[in-house]
Amino acid sequence: MTFRYTRAVALAVLLGSAGSAGAQTARSPQTSEANADRRASETERRMQPDERTVLTRGLWAIPLIPNVTIPAEAVLGAGYVTGIPRLDVPALVETDASLGVSYIAGLRKDGATALPSATAMGSTWNPGLIRRGGAMIAGEARAKGFNVLLGGGINLMRDPRNGRTFEYFGEDPLHSGVLGGAAIDGVQSQHVLSTVKHFALNAQETGRHAVDGRIADDAFRMSDLLAFEIAIDQGKPGAVMCAYNRVEGAPACGSDYLLNRVLKRDWRYPGFVMSDWGAVGATDFALAGLDQQSGAQIDKQVFFGAPLAAAAARDPAYAGRVADMNRRILRSIYAIGLDANPPVKAPIDFAANAAIARAVEDEGIVLLRNRNALLPLSKDVGSIVVIGGYADAGVLSGGGSTQVQPVGGPAVSLPMGGEGPLAKYNNQTFHGTAPLAAIRALAPKAKVTFVDGRYPAEAAAVARRADVAIVFATQWMSEGADVPDLSLPGGQDTTIAVVAAANPKTIVVLETGGPVLMPWLERTGAVLEAWYGGAKGGDAIAATLFGDVNPSGRLPVTFPASIEQLPRPALPYAGMIDRDFAAGLAAGKSYPIDYNIEGADVGYRWFARKGAVPLFPFGFGLGYTTFEHGAVKIVGGANPRATATIRNTGTRAGSDVAQLYLVSTPAGRTLRLAGFAKVAVESGAIATATIPIELRLLADNKGGRWSMPAGTYRFALGRSATDLGPAVTVTFPARQWR
Ligand code: GLC
Repeated sequence: MTFRYTRAVALAVLLGSAGSAGAQTARSPQTSEANADRRASETERRMQPDERTVLTRGLWAIPLIPNVTIPAEAVLGAGYVTGIPRLDVPALVETDASLGVSYIAGLRKDGATALPSATAMGSTWNPGLIRRGGAMIAGEARAKGFNVLLGGGINLMRDPRNGRTFEYFGEDPLHSGVLGGAAIDGVQSQHVLSTVKHFALNAQETGRHAVDGRIADDAFRMSDLLAFEIAIDQGKPGAVMCAYNRVEGAPACGSDYLLNRVLKRDWRYPGFVMSDWGAVGATDFALAGLDQQSGAQIDKQVFFGAPLAAAAARDPAYAGRVADMNRRILRSIYAIGLDANPPVKAPIDFAANAAIARAVEDEGIVLLRNRNALLPLSKDVGSIVVIGGYADAGVLSGGGSTQVQPVGGPAVSLPMGGEGPLAKYNNQTFHGTAPLAAIRALAPKAKVTFVDGRYPAEAAAVARRADVAIVFATQWMSEGADVPDLSLPGGQDTTIAVVAAANPKTIVVLETGGPVLMPWLERTGAVLEAWYGGAKGGDAIAATLFGDVNPSGRLPVTFPASIEQLPRPALPYAGMIDRDFAAGLAAGKSYPIDYNIEGADVGYRWFARKGAVPLFPFGFGLGYTTFEHGAVKIVGGANPRATATIRNTGTRAGSDVAQLYLVSTPAGRTLRLAGFAKVAVESGAIATATIPIELRLLADNKGGRWSMPAGTYRFALGRSATDLGPAVTVTFPARQWR
């Protein structure tokens, strides 16, 4: 177990990447879905016995495991599945992940373009932009020789202390499903197969191989599963990656309920299920619906090799399953065009690709506070002190398998220690453009000094003498470990407090993986949440500070005022390490987590149910202009939608996110995001937002069937989950569907 833990962290750091082309113009897939089905059946029928367990298993293509031979044609990266040349079936050459082609500590001596964190992407509320980001990183993957990108992380943020929060879009199923689907569609537009992951209920890293998520079927299908259902509908991912954790007692990768019943029967998912790396415990996971064992050499056995072939030789159930496994994998290969569009190694247009990363961060930064319109700063400001956050070096990035680094590696790499042979790869890294340089470039006449922030008194003394103080505060997150609480680590709260006391024009720039507490908030002038800013993070932050960018980000996750407000104030099993869980499992113990406490009411819906007031609500974000919402009109029928006018009543162009919330249904359901649209509006102009209504948010789910009763439904346009306009009512007929 320990190995797997450090393995994941190692993978994070031990991943390298090469240059690649920018996002090529998307060409239509080589084959329609029906054609893909037909071709898959044809090829499967032609398979010889020894070919039938070739596609069903892959290896971890990193030279870290003793006596494992990596095929010469493999590209060092997350995974490699041998092809079948006799049948023109290509190998699957797999890289991580959602934020760009991941890094292997320079093993391939190359780098890639880092997108901002998925939480930043979630803050854009802009599916079109997220699609462009997916296409860009897939273009880089192709140029390095990869045809599979293990992206599409869309687990809901049930616990903001989850170490992988930065890899996910947010806490709401519609918001995460739509943005996840866009990212997946962008990747696959480049004929690179995308995953959607981690299926499902992978909500914390503590004990991730052991914890057992307990949740009622209907609540599950109206929350985490709904995010996957929408992402699969809209993105059509070639593969679903099942998770490490257990769900209702069964390992997710061996769960008949999750894989056979929900995914393949109820949702009629035509693609294949790949395991996470080191998540397969037995050959009979195939009967539960698993189609491919990933990183097979780190499981106890290559179950989906000879043992699967032997099972198929003696048991018709296995033989039938193996045929289906191959058809599913082949179908995805053909539907996405991997066979007809092999990756072509090519130079990278880093400038063009970084511009996409910049556009995402420009729209992902959330302005949380701006007392007396302190921001935007004038470029004629006399003196600025920039404090902390390695702002002189770059912006923070998250650890784990999504870790991306630029060519030449990170600007700063802080060893974070840990145990085991791979701990030396566990580093907190900063990369991308540095905020300090970007601030200096935009305010060339200003006297800009940098203080590293280690000594609060020193920072306060310098701040006292400056016109403006900008404190950068970081919260590093990584796969493989959760954060113990939501406080900024390393005494940063003290530094911010004393600087704010020394200078009322103190601006805090947060570079965090997720929500954090802000005990100093009332003493500051302004607060920006910049998340992990990616390749051009510093530039985007500076442009927002000086008003070259009008911030339009909206929070994709609730910021609690205290962890006591969470469904589980104590992080389940905090303090236990993988060795403890392994021993417990061996002794027959189980480690349940009761998600029925909140059920489908994740995030803002939990706060509404409890009447709790968050620090900042889901959907919140300020800007440098103001918007007036007109009356909402709801159009029913087959494609129900809402329209509303958005007037820009300020002096600058800007974008607003029209959030349509369901306020009540005849079945007594309350507060759910039912649709959203981002609208750009010139100063003084009026634009109309058209918001498609996702009917599944109006319905209840019982055993996979959606049903909404006839009657009156009330909606309201919101600036956040706690700031709703007047409600409008509309009558819908009863509907039932699967
Ligand atoms: C990791 C992660 C998964 C990643 C895979 C391959 O442990 O859970 O997201 O894609 O292994 O690196």
